Amino acid sequence: MPVRGLSLLNRFFTLTMFFSIALCPSSAQSGGDAHAWSNSSLSPDERASMVVKEMTLDEKISLLHGTGMAGLSAMSPLAIHSNGGAGFVVGVPRLGIPPIQMSDAAYGVRGSGENGRYSTALPADVAAAASWDLDAAREYGALIGRELRAQGYNMSLGGGTNLTREPRNGRTFEYLGEDPVLAGKLVASVMKGLQAEHVIGDIKHYALNDQESGRNAVNVNIDKRAARESDLLAFEIGLQDSDIAAVMCSYNRVNGDYACENKYLLTDVLKKDWNFKGFVLSDWGGTHSAEKASAAGLDHEEPGWIFFGDQLKSAVESGKVPIAEVDDHVHRILRSMFATGVIDDPPQKGVVDVVGGFEVAQKIEEQSAVLLKNDHAQLPLDASAIHSIAVIGPHADVGMISGGGSAQVDPSGGNAIMPPGKGRTHWQEKIWFPTSPLKAIRAKAPTATVKFDSGSDPAAAAALAKSSDVALIFAYQWESEGMDLDSLSLPEHQDDLIAKVAAANPHTIVVIESGSPVTMPWVDQVSGILEAWYAGSRGAEAVANILFGDVNPSAKLPNTFPKSEADLPHPTIVKPPKATMDADHQGWRRIAGGLPAFQVTYNEGVKVGYKWYDAENKPVLFPFGYGLSYTTYSYSSLKVTPGKSPSVSFTVTNTGNRAGAEIAEVYASLPPTASEPPKRLVGWSKVKLSAGESQEVTVDVDPKYLSIFNVEQNAWQLIPGDYGFMVGGSSQKLPLKETVNLK
Ligand code: BGC
Repeated sequence: MPVRGLSLLNRFFTLTMFFSIALCPSSAQSGGDAHAWSNSSLSPDERASMVVKEMTLDEKISLLHGTGMAGLSAMSPLAIHSNGGAGFVVGVPRLGIPPIQMSDAAYGVRGSGENGRYSTALPADVAAAASWDLDAAREYGALIGRELRAQGYNMSLGGGTNLTREPRNGRTFEYLGEDPVLAGKLVASVMKGLQAEHVIGDIKHYALNDQESGRNAVNVNIDKRAARESDLLAFEIGLQDSDIAAVMCSYNRVNGDYACENKYLLTDVLKKDWNFKGFVLSDWGGTHSAEKASAAGLDHEEPGWIFFGDQLKSAVESGKVPIAEVDDHVHRILRSMFATGVIDDPPQKGVVDVVGGFEVAQKIEEQSAVLLKNDHAQLPLDASAIHSIAVIGPHADVGMISGGGSAQVDPSGGNAIMPPGKGRTHWQEKIWFPTSPLKAIRAKAPTATVKFDSGSDPAAAAALAKSSDVALIFAYQWESEGMDLDSLSLPEHQDDLIAKVAAANPHTIVVIESGSPVTMPWVDQVSGILEAWYAGSRGAEAVANILFGDVNPSAKLPNTFPKSEADLPHPTIVKPPKATMDADHQGWRRIAGGLPAFQVTYNEGVKVGYKWYDAENKPVLFPFGYGLSYTTYSYSSLKVTPGKSPSVSFTVTNTGNRAGAEIAEVYASLPPTASEPPKRLVGWSKVKLSAGESQEVTVDVDPKYLSIFNVEQNAWQLIPGDYGFMVGGSSQKLPLKETVNLK
């Protein structure tokens, strides 16, 4: 979160709440055993109801807001009990309810640097999405859960699930791509892995927080059907395929109301239609009222108590807010604590398994880097046949870039491009993880001469490339929360650098470190391209394993790479007037009543990502679902069995000469009366095949994925008619097709 303007926060706060609450110990175990609700054979709801009955109004209110955060200790005397994370909620020691210690944890545990603690940086969330691997996603969540507990946290603020409707969104790296089924299934797996470690999981930012520019002011206009079939569907699947305990509502307005006081989003959809039993917490400073937000379904304000402290208490005392409403908020929070096990099995601080973390991070990156181009089987490189390699690119001698903002994991030892030092990284600082491509490549090719050039002088880099057998360029595009990319072009004249190096050496391979798609004016000039994303603590080793063939790439794009920004649904990002933009950047000032709204209208509706390019007949650079391997696959024998959940069977054969894993994708087209884009992803299977091996695969399709959302009936509806089922290795290469009639 932004730190500018934080001192203003104090003005808004009163301390009265604190003196009515007993100081609680930071230990999570205070006296839990003495109470009837300690009986873990009771259901989480039963246990929560028993506690709520015993609570005073002050105790109830104390659970409905944060009590300070890292770097803001002055905000509250109780913040000394905070573990140093983004959020801290006092417990109720009298009743054996421990505090909630929250940390940001998008691709690893944030904020470790301040306390000198180590966290593993996993590849960015968008990379996890590129693996299309539910088991890897589960391991991703489990690792974060273990490291949170080892650092004394019992709640994660991760689970970014916003669709990539706007690829220039500075948080694209924190999200899971442009398709709701892919994003929803993956976030559910991450959360299952995380919550199994007895940590409260949350998914965010609900909803339609698809751009960062003016995020506290923007009013997103979208029709309900499109919203339910796109951004909201990702959350719906995420919630229903797991038991996520918390949902963070977003900063923006949706169809007129702020997301954190939006009855349609919070009550009608989330709590009623989806039957969500957990609690809703506001994004940091995203609460704008007490009565309205509480009635709309917000359960908890973060990081302080502008509205859900004295204001809410007075509203209850004067009868403006029924106590039953407050009880429901409290019940949801307690229920989530019991359900995830944070009361029965509180976190135990311990030593993080650094080596184990490295292994997981590397394994996930190896499954996540997408091979986009490989002319004349340029890759994998044969170390025994190469005498000289040029490694070119900003900081490719020392590190790989990571995504910024509240998701930032601090590298222990600091930023690889800075002198070694202790301390937390700064908001929106480019952080390079100490995983060195140069070293990793030298290790793979010990007999070759491997030289480095930063690329700051393209002519010098081109000269080095010319005198080398192979040129490996590490290009990057950094992004962060709180900003959007000006464009999808590589910054710092890297397009020019790549063009010059490629002109000097026909064996030029580009490794891209990015969170969003990038445009590639040089695409035809280079022989290989690997999208490595923000590659995490062991990124360089994983990339080197792919470049030299120890690992056969298998990942597929979770986002379309467009040819140019002119092809996007919104060729430019709508921004608010400068004054609003400035106010938006002033951090907490935004709390006072919200900012004047500016309008962004998502006329493209459900046509997010590939659905847009398909419907508009726009050719793309690399399509959704695309990715190469060092082997090849063929598809045959499609059979679709209609029924409630149609079953799609087919055979995948590895037709090459090495083992690999193919992500076999299943798409469907709906009957014309449904008025939908040409196709949508309805399932997939990751199939491991040795050379020459065939396997029959069956994908059962959830009927919801074939349905449209009927707004009048407020329900999913399968339109009777002909459905085309298409199967293949990318959204634009679907060799198998069968049409069946569904009723
Ligand atoms: C971000 C959230 C984050 C929170 C706490 C906000 O600015 O939007 O994603 O969890 O800060 O750091």
